[in-house]
Amino acid sequence: MEHSLKYKIGIIGLGYVGLSLAQLFLEKGSTVYGIDVEERKINMLQKRQSYLSDFSKNDIRKLFSNNSFHIGCTFDVIEKVDVIIICVPTPLDELDQPDLRYVVSAAESSIPYLRRGQLVVLESSTFPGTCEELLKPILESTGLLIGRDISLAYSPERIDPGSTWELGKIPKVVGGVTPSCTAYAKQVYGSAFEQTVVVSSPRVAEMTKLLENCQRFLNISFMNSLLKICEELNVSLWEVIEAADTKPYGFTKYYPGPGIGGHCIPVDPLYLLWKSRKLNLDLPFIELSHQVNEDMPGYIVERVAKSLRPKELKESSVLVIGVTYKKDVNDIRESIALPIIEQLLESGVHVGYFDPYVNELKIGETMLHAMPLTARNVKKYDCTLILTDHSNIPYELLVMHTPVVIDTRNATAKMANRKNVILL
Ligand SMILES: NC(=O)c1ccc[n+]([C@@H]2O[C@H](COP(=O)([O-])OP(=O)(O)OC[C@H]3O[C@@H](n4cnc5c(N)ncnc54)[C@H](O)[C@@H]3O)[C@@H](O)[C@H]2O)c1
Repeated sequence: MEHSLKYKIGIIGLGYVGLSLAQLFLEKGSTVYGIDVEERKINMLQKRQSYLSDFSKNDIRKLFSNNSFHIGCTFDVIEKVDVIIICVPTPLDELDQPDLRYVVSAAESSIPYLRRGQLVVLESSTFPGTCEELLKPILESTGLLIGRDISLAYSPERIDPGSTWELGKIPKVVGGVTPSCTAYAKQVYGSAFEQTVVVSSPRVAEMTKLLENCQRFLNISFMNSLLKICEELNVSLWEVIEAADTKPYGFTKYYPGPGIGGHCIPVDPLYLLWKSRKLNLDLPFIELSHQVNEDMPGYIVERVAKSLRPKELKESSVLVIGVTYKKDVNDIRESIALPIIEQLLESGVHVGYFDPYVNELKIGETMLHAMPLTARNVKKYDCTLILTDHSNIPYELLVMHTPVVIDTRNATAKMANRKNVILL
């Protein structure tokens, strides 16, 4: 690690990725200028408040402790920095195609302040070719040439919200447009990360991120596609996976669930699918996995209906546990719980929910409020549906006081009495 090097770093987008990166560079002695277009977030940071479950109030306070963290909504600070790192969202549009408007807007807003000698890095997940085909022309519209006047690289973000992985210990892949761009990016990331992994182009770095996420998408979808047959065979897929995992080589564990949510795993593969279609190529594995994932909410609702029979869905009440897209985070973007709850509501189910990270939830026109998990409240429901297995949820209480518990995460694994638990 090139510890002695300190930089002035501009980070565009102070969400899960940008704020974590700011924290790391600040810890390593660099100065960070953070820009976010969402005024609410800047105001909260200014009041030393957190909007992310991975950051406590104390973590936020610490970011400012050396007077090296400067934040705002305007881009003029770009003039002062050595490095500009773009960490803005890359969602899908209504046609499930890449929506790069945030990346374009971040780059275009920086243009008036770009100067010779700066390095621009894109960290947002995207299809191979984004840096060279989309960002390079925008940056070069200033008259500054990449590789001669300014540098451009891609470095995929690998943070895992809710987990205990230390960001600086996760190897950082970097690929620049030219060898000098790569060398600059390697030096900058080397000042904060223990290991940098140099690849031969931004395209390789972009594709690396997509490979990582596609692998999870395909394998989890494959597990989910096995749920029905395992149920017919009266076999627990969870038990099968643990048994297969005793093989000392050649088997990697992936677990089933209620469907894949979040803004990365179900989204990034569709960026690759879009790119492959542009090249007149098929990616049937991704299409199939996407279909499996789209079908999951319907399957879960069907399973709830089956467990309640002869009572009909429209006469039933279901308590949903966990609505965020993954365990121990406060992020509901693309959470699979949302379409599942929507389908339950559409079927006339009375839905209640609990999530320690989400106090209220708007599904269509329906506003739901998290209810306190007391025995009295839990007893009012015909069925408990565990969708996200947050830590510190009293799973025993749920199993004790609802007639049926549908557990899509094996959250009740350690309980001795699971007679009323249906493990999907
Ligand atoms: N969160 C993760 O676990 C994770 C992991 C790896 C990669 N990624 C990728 O990193 C990127 C960012 O993800 P995130 O989770 O941090 O998103 P986020 O929504 O939490 O944060 C992005 C921030 O960018 C801001 N923003 C949007 N447009 C802007 C602009 N033009 N200028 C300045 N700020 C702007 C938004 O207000 C928001 O605060 C995405 O491409 C995502 O796929 C995320």
